Amino acid sequence: MRTIDWVDGAVELIDQTLLPDRLEVLRITTVDGLIDAIRRLAVRGAPALGVAGALGVALAVATERDPGPAVARLRAARPTAVNLAWGVDEAAARIPEGPDAVLARALAIRDDDVAACRSMGERGADLLAELLGDRPLRLMTVCNTGGLAAVERGTALGVVQTVHERGRLAEALALETRPLLQGARLTAWELARMGAPHRLAVDAAGPFLLARGHADAVLIGADRIAANGDTANKVGSYALALGARRAGVPFVVVAPETTVDTATATGADIVVEERAADEVVTFRDRRIAPEGTDAVNPAFDLTPHDLITAIVTDRRVIRLDMGETLASVPPGARMP
Ligand code: MRU
Repeated sequence: MRTIDWVDGAVELIDQTLLPDRLEVLRITTVDGLIDAIRRLAVRGAPALGVAGALGVALAVATERDPGPAVARLRAARPTAVNLAWGVDEAAARIPEGPDAVLARALAIRDDDVAACRSMGERGADLLAELLGDRPLRLMTVCNTGGLAAVERGTALGVVQTVHERGRLAEALALETRPLLQGARLTAWELARMGAPHRLAVDAAGPFLLARGHADAVLIGADRIAANGDTANKVGSYALALGARRAGVPFVVVAPETTVDTATATGADIVVEERAADEVVTFRDRRIAPEGTDAVNPAFDLTPHDLITAIVTDRRVIRLDMGETLASVPPGARMP
């Protein structure tokens, strides 16, 4: 089953706000409907947002007399994951060639994602075997980087899936991911469907569990990787990277090439989405903090490149721990 697809002239996507209780598909026929789905995280995760952006341009071309303003609004629906703007730009570049060319590019982006996630799974699992040996692994992860964050298979969770398929997963430790609980709601759901052994932990337990030796490696996805390797990902990633470094545990970023943004020099230049205070002071629409409490709610944080052991993409593995950089290991290096 695909997280997002183009079906009979519309975008269809799994409504992730309803999981794990209900598995429902939303059929979206307007760009504004898609923007709303993106903003409320019915569709989310960097690779899925890239596909959504591209398919959204196809919708804009089909429904708007002048698609320009709708395309610009779609591009800005969420700021941190570079894939959204990338997907929009890729499809929009075909507008002069007509609607069929736009749709063809969007569908190619969808298909490329499926292949890229398979490649990341293999490369990531190979890297873990290289770093840790051919033994059962306990892998910690945050947020949701599985098929729900992409089209069919995921990035960091795709590596967990590949390790499981190779018979080498002792346990996946998923962090719940406050405030929207992508780990508890989505990652636990995916791991159960995979038949993978797993447990859930609160976010704050992550670094301590690493210190106590409960995981052999940490795998995270990425929303944007700057030219120097600094990585924006779900808030909580930075604390895990610090904990992993202190515990001597490998900390691996897994993301497609489309998440690498060489136009952004360092993490300091990445815009981190600030979401509504309501997400923090309420839980499932019930207020949990005293009335009037304000909140700060960054959706992402930045992990400096020097805390990252390796970046795994669909086309290369960059061993930052060995002094390699995105510039010194070009895409296509270390192909199997
Ligand atoms: O706010 P979200 O749920 O869109 O955040 C998603 C993440 O932070 C993921 O780790 C990232 O997009 C990579 S998904 C393969």
